[in-house]
Amino acid sequence: MAGQNPTASKTWNNRWTFMLAAAGSAIGLGNIWKFPYIAGQYGGGAFVMVYLLCIALVGVPLLMAETSIGRSTRLSPLNAMRKLTSDSGAFRGWEIVGWMGMFTGFIILTFYSVVAGWAMSYAWDLLTGTFDGMNASQVGGEFEALTLDAPRQIFWHTAFMALTVYITARGVHKGLEKGLQVMMPTLFALLILMLGYSMFATGNFMKGFHFMFDVDFSKITGEAVVAAMGQAFFTLSLGMCALMAYGAYMPANNSIPRTALSVAFLDTLMAIISGLIVFPIVYAHGLEPSAGPGLLFVSLTSAFANMTGGAYLGFAFFVLVSIAALSSAISLIEPTLAWVTERFGMNRIAATIMIGGAIWFVGLGSVLSFNHWAEVKFFGKTIFDLSGYVTDVILLPLGGMLTAIFAGWVLKRSVMSQELAMSVGMYNLWRFAIRIIVPAAVLLIFYTAIFK
Ligand code: PFF
Repeated sequence: MAGQNPTASKTWNNRWTFMLAAAGSAIGLGNIWKFPYIAGQYGGGAFVMVYLLCIALVGVPLLMAETSIGRSTRLSPLNAMRKLTSDSGAFRGWEIVGWMGMFTGFIILTFYSVVAGWAMSYAWDLLTGTFDGMNASQVGGEFEALTLDAPRQIFWHTAFMALTVYITARGVHKGLEKGLQVMMPTLFALLILMLGYSMFATGNFMKGFHFMFDVDFSKITGEAVVAAMGQAFFTLSLGMCALMAYGAYMPANNSIPRTALSVAFLDTLMAIISGLIVFPIVYAHGLEPSAGPGLLFVSLTSAFANMTGGAYLGFAFFVLVSIAALSSAISLIEPTLAWVTERFGMNRIAATIMIGGAIWFVGLGSVLSFNHWAEVKFFGKTIFDLSGYVTDVILLPLGGMLTAIFAGWVLKRSVMSQELAMSVGMYNLWRFAIRIIVPAAVLLIFYTAIFK
């Protein structure tokens, strides 16, 4: 049918697939790499508490809204927004949500792929024994050497984008369903194994635990709240239409509220477990929790370098982190890809190569921002830092807020109530959250980011 997404005409085969794909999108570098390092930078417990509140009060209601918008139209996010806008007789400008979603996904993937490339590079180096017997400061030196080495990073960035394009081009069914069914449970198992290590072998588990859960209210600064909210959006893949795009493939008889709760729960669990793995190791090796983007790479690798069989375990760990990143990367391209194939009738493979190629190219800027362009700064930030900041603090919260206002105030009530199929009480609770809490929370962080 003209203007229809060819992949959306079919829904996913199995009722678990949406769940798996949404969890695959949500669980990624945001949980394993980013959560521990930002929690570390903002002092632990206070940040974690605000983050958990954001997940529950803002994340879950928005997850339901985005999925419902996708499923009710079975179109790409941009066309979904267009159709619902015209069905509701609303102002056409709402389609900006769809445009922004595509743009945001593009920007995120440019730096996401660079970090995923680091993980791939670590997998390789662990396997080949580069880190064997190194102490933490030597491992830290290796991390710095990697970021200073542009060709090596470009190699792995290219490898990661090539894999992303390959899997995405194979299509939603063949590319996504099969791989995820095996990889997500394996990743979880490996994280549990590492958690066991942190608990029993570091001798610092309780120290890490207290760092993450003892709330020192004096540490709740405006900046920490802004970061926690940005992280909540990022980790749940919200505010850029990724779950709208996936919602379009969700079978009609799946329960959206139940799925949303499960995805949020699994995602949060993964982040918490990652923190509980990282911080005890950080203390055991005399590292700083506030070390920044290298935290995961340096702390975990120091542990792998000094345990029996660590090379293989470390290899497996970073391979799985790369795979978790891959299942998120796919969802970062999907909104644009779904729209390009709908709009121009372009073949999925050609479209993926074109979009992936453009992302790869812009991503070179992030690679270079660690070395040759380290002095190139905009608003005092390198390209890598700026891409993360703009998406976390502006684009994702703004996209999320507009989606919430659209779903809560503009859309005909029947669309959401039909998709969500909840009891009246629960529905009213959701409606209150989406109409009031989500927009107010986002406005609050904009206010804080600007004036504090
Ligand atoms: N949620 C992913 C992570 O935590 O790594 C990142 C991400 C994927 C953000 C997809 C946004 C998105 F649409």
